[in-house]
Amino acid sequence: MTNEPDWNILPDAEAVAQHACEQIIQKAERAIIERGIFRIVLAGGSTPERTYELLSAQVSGWSHWEVFFGDERCLPANHPDRNSSMAQMSLFDKVAINPVSIYPIPAELGALQAAAFYQGCLEQLPPFDVVLLGMGEDGHTASIFPGSSWQNKASVYDVSDSPKPPADRVTLSAQALGNTRKLLYLITGSSKSDAIKQWQSGIELPVNIIPAQFEAEVLIDKEAYSDG
Ligand code: 6PG
Repeated sequence: MTNEPDWNILPDAEAVAQHACEQIIQKAERAIIERGIFRIVLAGGSTPERTYELLSAQVSGWSHWEVFFGDERCLPANHPDRNSSMAQMSLFDKVAINPVSIYPIPAELGALQAAAFYQGCLEQLPPFDVVLLGMGEDGHTASIFPGSSWQNKASVYDVSDSPKPPADRVTLSAQALGNTRKLLYLITGSSKSDAIKQWQSGIELPVNIIPAQFEAEVLIDKEAYSDG
């Protein structure tokens, strides 16, 4: 049994970022009280950057955070186009998080080796507290793209034919991404409206096949939202 997401349609991208920040802080405070630790999987791309900037100004319990990544591009470790580089600049450089609590996907090793390594990192982990996901114009999420086989995959696997450069990537599986107390999609901009229309009309896309084990919510601005 997986959960259909709630849809929260917001005025603009800034409102999406503010709501995302509030939700993450709320989940972090609760996780830290209940379990002493907060585990979050960050989304890549550009949409989440503002959320990470807002988080950097508002969160205190960094010593209880563990940060993972939903996917990574096979580029050198500090390449500006890496998802880890965006998170580093917008968040990690500004807060007192312990670097040993940040788990980048070592995609600089190549997709196969990095996927095997990261799978080892995720083994034995309980559900994440929050998984953030973006969505591409074609309805992809993380590095799960339309037309790719996404079922019966290892928790972390290699991608070699990404239509969004670079072709070589590493991604968590749909199952692994859904293994979280809160699945939070951040979607903004009119370029996403076609994929949202497809989602709303029931067309299967990578973005809507993530099996949310608990709560799922789509934070979307009016530009991206479609009423079907
Ligand atoms: C990546 C991301 C990818 C991203 C979407 C949306 O490596 O690019 O993992 O899944 O979330 O493509 O990207 P934007 O937020 O830039 O529109």
